[in-house]
Amino acid sequence: MKTIGVLTSGGDAPGMNAAIRAVVRAAIFNKVRVMGIKQGYNGLINGSIEEMNLSSVADIIHRGGTMLRSARSDEFRTEEGFNKAVNVLEIFGIDGLIILGGDGSFKGAKKLSEAGIPTIGIPCTIDNDMGYTDYTIGFFTAVETVVDAISKIRDTSTSHGRANIIEVMGRHCGDIALYAGLAGGAESIIVPEVEFDIDEVCKRVIQGRNRGKLHHIIVLAEGVGNAYDVSKSIIEKTGTDTRVTILGHIQRGGTPTAFDRIIASKMGGKAIELLLNDKGGRALGIKCNQIIDMDIDEALNMKKVFDMEMYDTTKVLSI
Ligand code: F6P
Repeated sequence: MKTIGVLTSGGDAPGMNAAIRAVVRAAIFNKVRVMGIKQGYNGLINGSIEEMNLSSVADIIHRGGTMLRSARSDEFRTEEGFNKAVNVLEIFGIDGLIILGGDGSFKGAKKLSEAGIPTIGIPCTIDNDMGYTDYTIGFFTAVETVVDAISKIRDTSTSHGRANIIEVMGRHCGDIALYAGLAGGAESIIVPEVEFDIDEVCKRVIQGRNRGKLHHIIVLAEGVGNAYDVSKSIIEKTGTDTRVTILGHIQRGGTPTAFDRIIASKMGGKAIELLLNDKGGRALGIKCNQIIDMDIDEALNMKKVFDMEMYDTTKVLSI
């Protein structure tokens, strides 16, 4: 393998830059050329590609976002767009690819592998919604951001004796809510994986008041529904003044945690090692603190399992 390409696709995640840096440096260390593909699969289709060198990735390990920029490409999902992308790879002499992104991006990586281009997927998404890996790059940074927000909102919640609902991202996955809710000491955590009972949430609000608790933090995963509807019900059923904060894209930015940088660095190096050993169609992940790789199709088919034990712990600790 003489030349590889690297791209970031889908929603950006803190730690993508650390992974790009690792890919570029490990490739050059092994005397392989690296081409940076801009704006995800769109850049692959329109040939927005530049060779990278050691200094292209200097000073980025600590930065959020992605220096290669990202996109969700509708065109790549069409046959015409896909064929254009394959043609561009040939023109630039790219004989292996590394794709940084979530499951949508991995589907593209799988298709490219099936078309004969050795491709490796590195899991990058704040959602932690990929079943084959314990964690995805960016997840713990997003959790830190949410925990920081919870602590700040808790101050004002206490001052006013309110209930505060904090809506977090995660698409259909409740992991950001679960992990941040536990670390932030939330009174209720509402996730798509567990049936939601507004009466139970209200009971907790009243119980807290009765035992003199001044604050009340409810972390709501975006996949459950509308935070303002939940707020309205709490006000009606408990008479407690309630406010909503939708954290939104603040969760996608910021300097990556050390853990995200470490797994990004390890996976970037591992991706190069796999390509140099002529292994394509693989997804990288982390299981029991070990970097693993598996067939990308198998990885995509593994269902995400929600940590019910952790969820139960949050209930015990928030009485
Ligand atoms: O997949 C990452 C994510 O941030 C989700 O949590 C969220 O639902 C979605 O992307 C938002 O996407 P966009 O940035 O395209 O609005």
